[in-house]
Amino acid sequence: MKKVRFGIMGAGRMASVLMDTVNKMDIIEPYAVASRDLARAEEFAKTYGVEKAYGSYEEMLADENVDLVYVVTPPSVHAEQMKMCIEAGKAVFCEKPFTLTAQEARDVLALAKEKNVFVGEAIWTRYMPMVASLEALKNEPLLGEIRAVYADLGYPVWHKPRVQDLKLGGGALFDVGIYPLTFVDIMIGTDYEKLQTLTCKVGGVDQVGTIAMLYPDGKMANIINSTIGPSDRQGIIYGTEGYAIVENVNNFEQIRIYDKMHVCVKTIDRPEQISGYEYELESAAKALEEGAIECPEMPHDKIIAVMEVMEAIWKSIENE
Ligand SMILES: NC(=O)c1ccc[n+]([C@@H]2O[C@H](COP(=O)([O-])OP(=O)(O)OC[C@H]3O[C@@H](n4cnc5c(N)ncnc54)[C@H](OP(=O)(O)O)[C@@H]3O)[C@@H](O)[C@H]2O)c1
Repeated sequence: MKKVRFGIMGAGRMASVLMDTVNKMDIIEPYAVASRDLARAEEFAKTYGVEKAYGSYEEMLADENVDLVYVVTPPSVHAEQMKMCIEAGKAVFCEKPFTLTAQEARDVLALAKEKNVFVGEAIWTRYMPMVASLEALKNEPLLGEIRAVYADLGYPVWHKPRVQDLKLGGGALFDVGIYPLTFVDIMIGTDYEKLQTLTCKVGGVDQVGTIAMLYPDGKMANIINSTIGPSDRQGIIYGTEGYAIVENVNNFEQIRIYDKMHVCVKTIDRPEQISGYEYELESAAKALEEGAIECPEMPHDKIIAVMEVMEAIWKSIENE
């Protein structure tokens, strides 16, 4: 596979985390970084061995050697920045959450289609090999029919200005809730009939929240997301014959299936990995090589569908 020359848009915390993985991969060349501040871009380039440092996003987009732009900025500016990339003819992979609204997502993806430019969402859990093991649980006799799914995710991130600022796309739902929601979607989809939220808001921002969904066939989903402290990050799948505990819905580690007597009858461990970020990058690189405009693990229709659910959850939170 031809090496993909990677251009990072925004030199913040997540960009640094990502570089540790990029620098261990053969198929990605960390070619450029752009920051609104040239000194920050230069410092980042020096730290992570990136060839080019740009003091504006526009300058990086004008560099014809950049194959793939990785947007790693606050969610409030994702839509505008992805459109900038597409207009410049640059393939773009954008951090989660893709946008703030479903309409923004539709607009970005319509432009990608019109210009025939690759756009993907970098929601890493979608691309992990353990997704296939989770999918297989739907036909696992040890579980029987899946009737309910629970997932929680919490981190002590409230102190971060970005997390406390709704204008930047902060709050528990947008920062962490999207991962348990993704887990629920993988297991039972999101075609719910009723949705209810209960949220602790601080200054209008959702700090901790619960989401409950009831499906037309009686299935249930329950989510807790929090920005004030760590959680056990578990996903639990309740079947008619047993239940499965998934360790870490934000980087699947292990699935344990228990029978009706609470005896663990099967364990599935994840394969060895660099960090887990390599899978999303490999998928984007493959899509570029094949001339595709989307990744099969997170196609455009799915990006929009998830944003529609996120929007419905957010409306419920606002109306509490
Ligand atoms: N996949 C994961 O595991 C994971 C983990 C954490 C975060 N994330 C996602 O990654 C994205 C960035 O998060 P982060 O934690 O890296 O945030 P961060 O540390 O605040 O960095 C965001 C960067 O965005 C740039 N930026 C552009 N426009 C901005 C604006 N109007 N206000 C503030 N910053 C702006 C800034 O870079 P310059 O000043 O250099 O231009 C800033 O350093 C978010 O979408 C977040 O949800 C993903």
